[in-house]
Amino acid sequence: MSEVLLITGGASGIGAAVARIAARKGYDIAVNYRSRAREAATLVQELKATGVRAIAVQADVSRPEDIERLYDEVTERLGPLTALVNSAGILIPPTRVDEADAALLDRLFQTNVIGLILSTREAVRRMSTARGGRGGVIVNVSSMAASIGGRPGISLYASSKAAVDVFTVGLAREVAAEGIRAVAVRPGFTITDMTAEFASDPDRYAEIASTIPLGRAGNVDEIAKPIVWLLSDEASFITGSLLDISGGGFNLGGSFLRPSAAR
Ligand SMILES: NC(=O)c1ccc[n+]([C@@H]2O[C@H](COP(=O)([O-])OP(=O)(O)OC[C@H]3O[C@@H](n4cnc5c(N)ncnc54)[C@H](OP(=O)(O)O)[C@@H]3O)[C@@H](O)[C@H]2O)c1
Repeated sequence: MSEVLLITGGASGIGAAVARIAARKGYDIAVNYRSRAREAATLVQELKATGVRAIAVQADVSRPEDIERLYDEVTERLGPLTALVNSAGILIPPTRVDEADAALLDRLFQTNVIGLILSTREAVRRMSTARGGRGGVIVNVSSMAASIGGRPGISLYASSKAAVDVFTVGLAREVAAEGIRAVAVRPGFTITDMTAEFASDPDRYAEIASTIPLGRAGNVDEIAKPIVWLLSDEASFITGSLLDISGGGFNLGGSFLRPSAAR
């Protein structure tokens, strides 16, 4: 029976890199997307060309009813799910708490925390050996920002990712006896659409890169390869762990706030 992997937010960035690498390992893949229908369709064609089964499924993980539909469709079209990468996430415009907007905070937590938890709920319902499933592996994409609250301007986003971390640790303990492993990865600054605004400005990029011990941003393959390894049996004794993939974490300095907003 094949390994079936669902990647939320899989049409771009880290999620799409996971899809490409996992397809080369033989996983059948469901690419969830919110708005990127064309990118998802192109990726699915590319994955199919490697010989695996692949589908694209639209669903907004901030909408609980979409999540249930997503899992029903994946199970119906690809069979029992055995692997999940929760990569869907948003970064709100960098702000200090004194400028925080309630509606944006609601969207942030609805997507990064509640959406991820409800996605995990659906996966556990299908993977748990206690519920007739085959077991499985769940990798949640957190962020290095969760470790120290991120650079100035990122504390709100960081707090959503800290929730992902502690949820993952507790989840792993709850489902360990039911054939499910759960791990969170904490990428550092990685070049994707999410960070394009900072990476495309040479001065801002240099400032941020100077705070990373390895002296540069990561690329998506450097995040995706460890994720796919965590999904594999080579990582069979790893659960409840938080893996930093961050070029060494943070040195002091660096800010996501625009110079005028930094105080
Ligand atoms: N890049 C970094 O430096 C970095 C560092 C640490 C952690 N991360 C985390 O890594 C994960 C992937 O981000 P990325 O860097 O690869 O950026 P990305 O290319 O922007 O990927 C995020 C994906 O999530 C999707 N998404 C957002 N809201 C969604 C929703 N409600 N429902 C379904 N899909 C949704 C986006 O699709 P739409 O555009 O259609 O909304 C997008 O495809 C995120 O959880 C992010 O927080 C990134």
